[in-house]
Amino acid sequence: MVLLHSLFRWLVLLAAVGALVGYGRARGPSGFDAFTERMGSLFAVAIGVQLLIGIVVWLIQGRWGGDDVFRSFIHPAMMILATGVASAGVARARRGQQAMLGLGTVIVSLVLVVAAIPSDAWPL
Ligand code: HEM
Repeated sequence: MVLLHSLFRWLVLLAAVGALVGYGRARGPSGFDAFTERMGSLFAVAIGVQLLIGIVVWLIQGRWGGDDVFRSFIHPAMMILATGVASAGVARARRGQQAMLGLGTVIVSLVLVVAAIPSDAWPL
């Protein structure tokens, strides 16, 4: 499960790049199309799945003990925030067909994710 959580981060990152391309492209002549929506949704789903895997890892490892404060509380809290920003942003961008909103929320979410990755787990 930890390995899955560890590897899935690459999928989240890939999906984030896809969403950035999708929203970036939507600012051009093609506009906000099915590709934009698909890329945005893919990112929201990927980060949501990673969140669920993270919660399972947290429970399996009994992280509520808090001996590693960063992994026990700071990492989960920031990732929950990042996932909330991503999901709400993708949904609102889709509803309003707003590429800039999508682009902004994906960037904010990515900054939170990168900041919340344990320093000894780098690169990424
Ligand atoms: C949603 C975005 C998330 C991302 C991108 C993410 C990413 C990561 C990464 C990169 C690591 C380091 C893995 C390694 O050392 O190889 C990690 C570890 C960990 N994550 Fe997450 N995580 C996310 C959400 C969560 C959530 C919501 C929780 C708990 C509620 C969680 C719990 C943990 C725990 C307990 C570890 C430590 C595992 C260990 O060192 O054995 N993660 N996470």
